[in-house]
Amino acid sequence: MPFLEWKDSYNIGVKEIDNQHRGLFDLISKLFTSRLYEPDGKYFFLTLNKFMEYAQVHFSTEERYMQEAQYPKFAEHQREHELFIEQVSKLIQDVEKKEPDIENKTLDFLKEWYLAHILGTDRDLEKWFQEKGFK
Ligand SMILES: [Fe+2]
Ligand SMILES: [Fe+2]
Repeated sequence: MPFLEWKDSYNIGVKEIDNQHRGLFDLISKLFTSRLYEPDGKYFFLTLNKFMEYAQVHFSTEERYMQEAQYPKFAEHQREHELFIEQVSKLIQDVEKKEPDIENKTLDFLKEWYLAHILGTDRDLEKWFQEKGFK
């Protein structure tokens, strides 16, 4: 099962954020590949941890831009970030415990999240950041 094809239309027009969104995309793609080709799940676990750290870096960057722009939906957007971190922490524990079918569940969850948050919630930032002249 492939993840997604990257498209330039996924960009929101602020370089730092777009690079991070692409980085998160690439890490999810690596997780998909490692589930297919790796027997013991070690690389999957390491990559998932890396993904989590990178997501935290990304969220703080994005929140900084939102605050600078006085983005009106900052609080609810930040809440989505926090909830995601809680959910991924839980998944990391379950992967470590080797819960049944956990790798597939994790991938389904990350794909859904990418579509709903990065390609959904974050898109709302585009016009707002553009108005502020962020690049
Ligand atoms: Fe984002
Ligand atoms: Fe976001």
